[in-house]
Amino acid sequence: MTRLYTINTATEIADKIFEFWIDAPQVARNARAGQFLILRIDEKGERVPLTISAVDGDAVRVVFMAVGKTTEHLATLQAGDTLADVVGPLGKPSEIREYGTCCLVGGGAGIACTPIIARELKAAGNHVIGIIGSRNADLLILEDEMREVCDELFITTDDGSKGFHGYAADVLKRELDHRTIDAVWIIGPAIMMKVTSAATLPYGVKTFVSLNPIMVDGTGMCGSCRVTVGGETKFACVDGPEFDAHQVDFAELMQRQRIYTDQEKLAAEKFAE
Ligand code: FES
Repeated sequence: MTRLYTINTATEIADKIFEFWIDAPQVARNARAGQFLILRIDEKGERVPLTISAVDGDAVRVVFMAVGKTTEHLATLQAGDTLADVVGPLGKPSEIREYGTCCLVGGGAGIACTPIIARELKAAGNHVIGIIGSRNADLLILEDEMREVCDELFITTDDGSKGFHGYAADVLKRELDHRTIDAVWIIGPAIMMKVTSAATLPYGVKTFVSLNPIMVDGTGMCGSCRVTVGGETKFACVDGPEFDAHQVDFAELMQRQRIYTDQEKLAAEKFAE
């Protein structure tokens, strides 16, 4: 009998940003911070890679933005609905150890990936600073959770509707100017990760980014998640998804992310019909 994966809860936590808790015991049992899963709505569905955002018992949490055909479809699912498959955990876990002071920077839906890393860093004895940013206050997610898990939390919004008026990179730079930070994680849109990781470069701080290239199989076979890191070809699904931010070729990443833009647009239009 084919096993189906039940969605325990499905919540829109901000405009077009959805949080699902999915019953997937084998993923939950083994998941570590930084890893991801790949789900399919049905047997013919597109494979969707999503970072594991939290684990609770047999359930895992994922957060996604409804931005294309498959994620728009996913967003219509409700608690009690099932998914055809959930495969994971995939990828390498975050490099968790005792660094001293760590800073987690989350942008937009990428904020969802930060509490699980913050928790593990805290458990490893680190002082954890969180910086979470979004375009405006309404799009800010998981603030309470980050406040609970981090020792300090800074909020930024592009329009100044909450917290610091500006970008996470500005606050990160300000903090780096007056204290020692030993390791930084930056998770968000590629352009945000590029700009924010440039802020840590002059300080020589170890900086990780979680890359989100197009993925298909998630097992290192298809090559679609190819990225260049330190001049070498890597596959984000098996060699990452976290890499040394200062070694990543962001221009190539962003160019490859756009490869299927036309097809994605067409598929989304068809789904909306
Ligand atoms: Fe196919 Fe990584 S998704 S090689």
